[in-house]
Amino acid sequence: MKVLSQLFENNRNWAQGIVEKDPDFFKKLSNQQTPEYLWIGCSDSRVPANEIIGLAPGEVFVHRNIANLVIHTDMNCLSVLQYAIDFLKVKHIIVCGHYDCGGVKGAMDNSSQGLVDNWLRHIRDIYSKYAVTLDQISDMKRRTNKLCELNVIEQVANVCHTTIVQEAWKRGQEISVHGWVYGLENGLLRDLHVCVRAADELSAIYRMAVDEELEEK
Ligand code: CO
Repeated sequence: MKVLSQLFENNRNWAQGIVEKDPDFFKKLSNQQTPEYLWIGCSDSRVPANEIIGLAPGEVFVHRNIANLVIHTDMNCLSVLQYAIDFLKVKHIIVCGHYDCGGVKGAMDNSSQGLVDNWLRHIRDIYSKYAVTLDQISDMKRRTNKLCELNVIEQVANVCHTTIVQEAWKRGQEISVHGWVYGLENGLLRDLHVCVRAADELSAIYRMAVDEELEEK
């Protein structure tokens, strides 16, 4: 029977390494988590939240799905968002996409990939919204990456529009929503300048970020 023994050995080594540096690390963490950040990212195995922002266990609350989408009827994502805001009191929500995203690429070609097509439909909708600009970019890699960026901006707006974030802002809770994109080729994050800290900031910041994207081509 295959029991993936290598992974268990990795795990023991990892836990031991941490305890050697801080003998109480797991004991302290098991009592509570107080992350300041909620990460909403892609499921892609090359974009591990904690590692790329250099945070230890306990420091970032994570939700990942294909193409880092925030859908208004997705109870999974909304539950994560609500728990992070109402109970963990995170201060920052980071929507992080990445270049060369398979989900975004999948949405751009018209081949059928099964059930996931329904999920990727949301990205096709974003494509339609910006088709005039996107269709002008002949290089397919650049076109994909542009859609990866626009997708992040749209998902930041979706986060801000949720009743959960709107209510939190209304009662004066300090929450900033950020939009970033990660480069698989260099391991670096890029800020898409779409940081929203209040309900009345959203439309102007969203408009500016989108305009910047469309002008940049
Ligand atoms: Co992806």
